[in-house]
Formats: sequence, structure tokens, C-alpha cells
Amino acid sequence: MDIRTCVFVLFGLIGLACAEPVKYIDCGSISGKVVLVDIKPCATQPCQLHKGQSYSVNVTFNSAVESQSSNAVVHGIVAGLPIPFPIPVQDGCKSGIQCPIQKQQKYHYVTALPVKSEYPSIKLVVEWELRDDTKNDLFCIRFPVQIVS
Ligand SMILES: *[C@@H]1O[C@H](CO)[C@@H](O)[C@H](O)[C@H]1NC(C)=O
Repeated sequence: MDIRTCVFVLFGLIGLACAEPVKYIDCGSISGKVVLVDIKPCATQPCQLHKGQSYSVNVTFNSAVESQSSNAVVHGIVAGLPIPFPIPVQDGCKSGIQCPIQKQQKYHYVTALPVKSEYPSIKLVVEWELRDDTKNDLFCIRFPVQIVS
């Protein structure tokens, strides 16, 4: 390829890198498999969460089980300790998921993550679980964030 194609490809790659989905680690999704985690707006990695703002979290996953219910449990891990991180809607069935959950189906779990102004300005790891009827995780993800003013 010539130099122009090369530059074009390079910029294309940079463009992809900027719109990159959130990097996460799986912390034990046994009733499902995570496909993609998207947080908006999140221009940098780790995501910078501004106090007083709300973020949209969109987790695409495939279910491996049937479940009537789905409940989100969110923790902030600070200095190794999990601290409950309250979210307005815990019910996954009211967060973009049509329940009952069917086996081998793809779902988008979409909810809001409000960042309270009284939160400290720290870096932490968010652990987000969505539990099925038997309290197994449809997904469990961990991703780093930075809370900023
Ligand atoms: C969630 O993410 C999926 C995959 O990118 C997308 O198809 C879907 O439209 C998103 N849903 C919302 C409400 O943003």
C-alpha cells in the first residue's frame, strides 16, 4: 500500500481506539457471558466520572440460563474492600431486559449510574453483578473508574 493508504489505516485505528468499549475483567459470570461493556460518556480509560453527573451503563451479554428475575448488585472496591455503590434501579428486568430471561439469548442491560457530589475524588474499581434467580451471576464485571470534580 502507498503512504496515503497507510496514514488512512493508522487514523482508522486511532479512531477505533478512541471509541473503544470499556476494558473490564470478568469476575465470575457463570450464568451468562459478557459480550460488550459500554459506558457513556467515557472518553478515556479509566472512565472519568464527574460528580453530579449521571452515566449510562450498557452491558451486552448472552444468558446461559433461564431466570424469572435479575438483580443488580454494585460495589466500589476501595483499597481492596467492597463498598456498596447504590444505583437507582436494581431490577435488571426494568433495565432493558425483558424477563423472564431465556437461555442462549442476547440481552442489553442498560441503566443509569449517578455519581453523587459527596463522593470522594478517588480511583476505584467498580464491580457490577447481575444475579439470576439462584443468585448466580448472569454477569460479573470489574472496571476501573476515576471520580473527579
Ligand atoms: C447497548 O449496546 C448495544 C451494543 O452496542 C446496542 O446495540 C444497543 O443499542 C445499546 N442500547 C442502548 C439503550 O444504548
